[in-house]
Amino acid sequence: MSQTAPIGIFDSGVGGLSILREISNLLPEEKFIYLADSAHCPYGIKPVAQIRERTLEVTQFLSELGVKIIIVACNSACVAGLDQVRTLFADIPVIGVEPALKPAHNLTRNGKIGVLATNLTLKGERFSTLIKKYGTGVTVFTQAAPGLVELVEAGAIDGYQTENLLRQYLEPLLAKAIDTLVLGCTHYPFLSPAIKKICGPEVLLLDTGKAVAKQTARVLEEKKLRGDQPNGQNLFYTTGPISTVTPVIRKLLASPNIEVLAASV
Ligand code: DGL
Repeated sequence: MSQTAPIGIFDSGVGGLSILREISNLLPEEKFIYLADSAHCPYGIKPVAQIRERTLEVTQFLSELGVKIIIVACNSACVAGLDQVRTLFADIPVIGVEPALKPAHNLTRNGKIGVLATNLTLKGERFSTLIKKYGTGVTVFTQAAPGLVELVEAGAIDGYQTENLLRQYLEPLLAKAIDTLVLGCTHYPFLSPAIKKICGPEVLLLDTGKAVAKQTARVLEEKKLRGDQPNGQNLFYTTGPISTVTPVIRKLLASPNIEVLAASV
């Protein structure tokens, strides 16, 4: 495995770009291969076995491109198949994501935490384990949020329709007087400005991007895989229609020259 190899990162769609953005901010000398599995998005409403299979296929695709580490930048994919990815791709370091309950537990002032995530994430064993670990002494209110992933996939990160749906999900949490809101899906950080508008400045929003970036730095350091060549070329792939996905990736990363390639996986 070479230091100059890219970091492989994937999500059901464009959500994992919120993780890529944080890793890239922390490690500007790294280059990335990003895969948006847009043809199969959203994952969170599909049977676990189906998402697990996709997760393994997509990991295989990235590993064949010679990545030095794999970031499973999707909570739903982690619920469905992170353990299997680690077992089957034991020679590549693999990093997953999880809702930021640990920092929420430390940072809440009134002990009332809201979690916004996909159905699959909230129902999964990983989430129950997190609640057992970090749900003591606080009250955690969960809210599944179907439809938000699709809006982000369409680049609709603000506007009437998005705010309307967000209000539907956030108002019940705000009624419980939460002071901390965990964004338990990697798509949601792109909705942060709209969420802040609804929740107001008193509610602390937490996502996992920065923690995943730090963990990536630690693992690369430990394995002596840290890159040292800034301005490397990132590659973006999608399994969906290029003409739809390209403008959304450009918008979310505020990078108008990104070209997106078709992934045959
Ligand atoms: N970004 C994915 C996550 O973090 C979205 C899941 C989905 O496609 O439903 O869960």
